Formats: sequence, C-alpha cells, structure tokens
Amino acid sequence: MTAVSLAEIRKAFPDQEGTDEVLVFDGLSLSVRDREFVCLLGESGCGKSTLLNMVGGLDRDFSGHLALEGNAGPDSVKTDPRIGYVFQEHRLLPWLSVYDNLKFVLRTGGIPSDLWSSSISLWLDRVGLWEFRNAYPHQLSGGMRQRVSIARAFVIDPDILLMDEPFSGLDEFTGRQMREELLQLWRQSQKTVLFVTHNCFEACYLADRILILGNRPARVTDEVPVDIPRDYESEELFERSVGLTRKVLGTGLGRLRGQS
Ligand SMILES: Nc1ncnc2c1ncn2[C@@H]1O[C@H](COP(=O)(O)OP(=O)(O)O)[C@@H](O)[C@H]1O
Ligand SMILES: [Mg+2]
Repeated sequence: MTAVSLAEIRKAFPDQEGTDEVLVFDGLSLSVRDREFVCLLGESGCGKSTLLNMVGGLDRDFSGHLALEGNAGPDSVKTDPRIGYVFQEHRLLPWLSVYDNLKFVLRTGGIPSDLWSSSISLWLDRVGLWEFRNAYPHQLSGGMRQRVSIARAFVIDPDILLMDEPFSGLDEFTGRQMREELLQLWRQSQKTVLFVTHNCFEACYLADRILILGNRPARVTDEVPVDIPRDYESEELFERSVGLTRKVLGTGLGRLRGQS
C-alpha cells in the first residue's frame, strides 16, 4: 500500500524582490510505501524542507497531486493520516516541562484525554527520559532535547513520520546513538518514515530506499534501494556510503564545472 504519493508537483516561492519566482519543484513525483523508511537526499536549498512541509500540510500553496493514506479505522473506513514531525531544531516549548510538551501535542492533536498519561509514560520511557519528565528544555542536553522531540512525534501514534535533518546538529557520537535508537523505535512501531538528510552515510544506514533530489527545480534524479544490514561495523555500509557520496558529489561537481 502507498502511504505518500506526489505526482507532477509544481511549487514556487516569490523571489526576494517579489517580482519573480523561485521555482523549487517542477514535475516532482515520488511515492513511499506503507511502513517504508525512505531517506530524501539532496544538497542544501534543493527543496527538502519545502517537500516535508507540503506532505505535512504546513504548506498547501502548490499545484499537482498529493495523496496520503491513513490507517483503516472502524469498518475499514480510511481516516486522515496522523503526521508526526521532527524538525532540525527541537522546537520544544521552553515554558513547558518535558511532560507538558508531550501533553500539549496530544491535546492539540485531539487525542482522547484518557490516553494521555499512558502514552506519555510509554514514550518518555522508550526514549529514556522518564526521570526528566519535570525538566524544562533548557535543562537538557542537545541530544536529550532531540529525544524529547522524537517522543513528541511518536506520542500521537502517527501514521507517517516526517523527519527533517533531525540529527545534523548533534555530535557524531550522539548522532550515531540516536540513529540506532530511532531504528529501534521504528521497528517497534512500524511507521512510514520520510527522513530528510544531506548525509550519505546516515541515509545508507537508515533507509530501505534513498531518493536523490536534483537541483532546483528539483525532481528525483535517482533511486537507490538499500538492502544491507543496519550495522555501523559493516563493511558494506562503508562501501555503499562511499559509492553514494561519489554519485551525489559527481552530480554537484558536474553542475559546478558546467557553470564555470
Ligand atoms: N518561505 C519561503 N519564502 C521564499 N523562499 C523560500 C521559502 N522557503 C524556502 N524558500 C526557498 O526555496 C528553496 C528550497 O528551500 P528548502 O526547502 O528550505 O531547502 P532545503 O531544505 O533542501 O535546504 C530555497 O531556494 C529557499 O530559499
Ligand atoms: Mg532544509
């Protein structure tokens, strides 16, 4: 079953002067299968965050076809999919405790209040932060804040999880640990994940399939299935990520040479 499908998307922003437009996508098409982990790889400014914002319903100003499949509700009636979003910065509300940050999304997401307490304790436990439930965001390390924002995305039991370079601001040790933890949560919950990154190693480690976005106006220029063990020690992971880096840099360098 397809969870996310985009066809012939055209998206433009007004340029800085407001006289012309910046064409971000022109004829973009892609799809993500239910429970698939897809990494979107592309260089800075190619439109990755814009794409997640469109899928997440934060940006509706585009043309083309976007379809999202929700879970089958009672009587197999399709419901609107619930979307969890993890941003590059944690975006926690600084005046609320860890516990109340999670409660806030449950309330605004319309989740019945009798489920709040059990969902919050489940997810704070899964990300190892139950004992920090009364702490405020400024009292946590960067890795802990990002863990809270991951718990906040999972706590609403989303059908689709959107992640926008969530680990790029973390040091390599914390980033590696967080990726391992994310895979564990993903295996337990079997969500559909659309994960944006510009890190080839990260993409090869996490993804079932990698979609490479070209330069603006962007389209999917390449699709790379990944069928290697998700193991940091694996030689295959290293080789795949070197190969992918060459492929991606080759495209970028070709473009730069073409301009000179
Ligand atoms: N709100 C906006 N207004 C105008 N231009 C924007 C806006 N958001 C993004 N852009 C432009 O769209 C392009 C893609 O941006 P973005 O999706 O943030 O790229 P990425 O996430 O791949 O780095 C960039 O050229 C950026 O300047
Ligand atoms: Mg971005």
